Amino acid sequence: MDYHVSSDALKGKVILVTGAGDGIGRQAALSYAAHGATVILLGRTVSKLEAVFDEIEAAGGPTPAIIPLDLMGATKQNYLDMVDTIEGQFGHLDGVLHNASLLGVLCPFEQIDEKTFDDVMQVNVKGAFLMTQAMVPLLRKSDDARLVFTSSTVGHMGRAFWGTYAISKFATEGMMQVLADELSDTRVRVNAINPGARAQKCVHRPFRLRMAIY
Ligand SMILES: NC(=O)c1ccc[n+]([C@@H]2O[C@H](COP(=O)([O-])OP(=O)(O)OC[C@H]3O[C@@H](n4cnc5c(N)ncnc54)[C@H](OP(=O)(O)O)[C@@H]3O)[C@@H](O)[C@H]2O)c1
Repeated sequence: MDYHVSSDALKGKVILVTGAGDGIGRQAALSYAAHGATVILLGRTVSKLEAVFDEIEAAGGPTPAIIPLDLMGATKQNYLDMVDTIEGQFGHLDGVLHNASLLGVLCPFEQIDEKTFDDVMQVNVKGAFLMTQAMVPLLRKSDDARLVFTSSTVGHMGRAFWGTYAISKFATEGMMQVLADELSDTRVRVNAINPGARAQKCVHRPFRLRMAIY
């Protein structure tokens, strides 16, 4: 079926995208802006966020905003301050795409390194948890808000060697389901998307995997 989204479908909406400087997050930000949204570009590499900012402006989209933030070190207070800034600048927040994520290292379960496990959980799970906790009060004020988590095929069905990443995506799905249930009688809808498999170079050790699909 031919489905057409009008170019002003998101006009007036303010949408925050994490990991907006690259990959799927970058493309989502460009697409939201192309449909009229004011996009808040959050990420850790400012030069990449600036490139997306310029691309949106060059295409005639609403002027975006940039929030440089590394989810690895961000604290609860950082997220609360961020929400204050968003409310002060835009007055409302209508959507969040939790997209920033770490893959970690693909390896047998017994060889999962504790530091890598902690880092992946910090960015993929705890960062999204703290950010969401800070943002829900502002999202509740929107007429029609969306909170979208990014999952993966291995967030539904575990797969050998995908240990840390798969565990983090199961947690992401769990967080989404808990929130969807808790907010079911509000105007905040909560979902997770699985962008689907893409050929991707990945870090691997000690066995060799040249390409992986996740
Ligand atoms: N690609 C796939 O095939 C696939 C399949 C299923 C699910 N997914 C999911 O889709 C999402 C995007 O995947 P992708 O392939 O587009 O990933 P990507 O190309 O690696 O981009 C990830 C983005 O997240 C940012 N990021 C990573 N760590 C961060 C941190 N500590 N603080 C702030 N930003 C951080 C990165 O910033 P920098 O640019 O600064 O590194 C980058 O912009 C992820 O949640 C992934 O799990 C992807």
